[in-house]
Amino acid sequence: MKMKMIHKLSIAVAAVAMAAGFALLPAGSAQASSEGPELEHIDWSFKGPFGTFDRSQLRRGYKVYKEVCATCHSMQYVSFRNLAEDGGPEFSVPEMKAIAAGYTVQDGPDQSGDMFERPAEGKDKFPSPYANNEAAAAAMGAVPPDLSLIAKARAGGPDYIHALLTGYTEAPADVTIPAGGNYNPYFAAGSGIIAMPNPLSDGQVDYEDGTPNTAEQMSQDVSAFLMWTAEPKLEARHRIGFQVLLYLIALAGILYFATRKIWADQH
Ligand code: HEC
Repeated sequence: MKMKMIHKLSIAVAAVAMAAGFALLPAGSAQASSEGPELEHIDWSFKGPFGTFDRSQLRRGYKVYKEVCATCHSMQYVSFRNLAEDGGPEFSVPEMKAIAAGYTVQDGPDQSGDMFERPAEGKDKFPSPYANNEAAAAAMGAVPPDLSLIAKARAGGPDYIHALLTGYTEAPADVTIPAGGNYNPYFAAGSGIIAMPNPLSDGQVDYEDGTPNTAEQMSQDVSAFLMWTAEPKLEARHRIGFQVLLYLIALAGILYFATRKIWADQH
């Protein structure tokens, strides 16, 4: 009787431990792109249950977004003040305010009913470079998607973005590229023909922290940055996951000894 009970309990303990294990798995970690060549798996600092973002990398990634990607891509779910929050690039509040002030946003209506423009503040979202999707499509041949959540919206997440940004090549002989098109075998839509021209080349963005500004490095930095915009609470999630695990281990131990004690005399 007692042995049976303890046996049952150890199954329960194992189940609790497994549940904890699943709780700690990073969301989307098991995904792989179903189309295109296999993605290179980058050893991101934020990978795994204890992963954290590299602050300097996020700051460099922001700079790449701002100086390169923002020409075409919006980031409508990110507010300027997010840049100064814990778990992200952690710019100081004055730095964040200076970044915001460099952008112009539309506000209003004012008392006479007119819309007006003003410098952005912390509460504002990053403005879109185009007035609307139609204008973007007319300019680019396809709408550049909003980048706020793109790292979660594509299989492979940051590995996919990195592969896409470094994956431009000559089209194979049997593929005809339409005017304004470019060839990139990683493009998830499959055919490999993408309206985005190769956005990164060596030396394009000046890095202040001395990191070599190769296209490879910039593509990793901006991919990490976009992982943060898609999951700004990643570090908090990892922290809580670890605490839950500790709690479950402690609970399993208490249950084990409690059960042994309760059943000790009952045979
Ligand atoms: C000159 C404009 C332009 C620039 C600069 C640009 N993009 Fe794009 N991007 C586009 C367009 C247009 C598309 C849509 C492509 C299509 O649907 O064929 C796109 C698509 C994308 C996609 C989505 C691909 C998919 O799977 O649907 C990602 C991710 C992306 N861009 C990231 C970036 C990043 C990161 C940067 C900065 C390093 C950047 N882009 C710079 C125009 C641009």
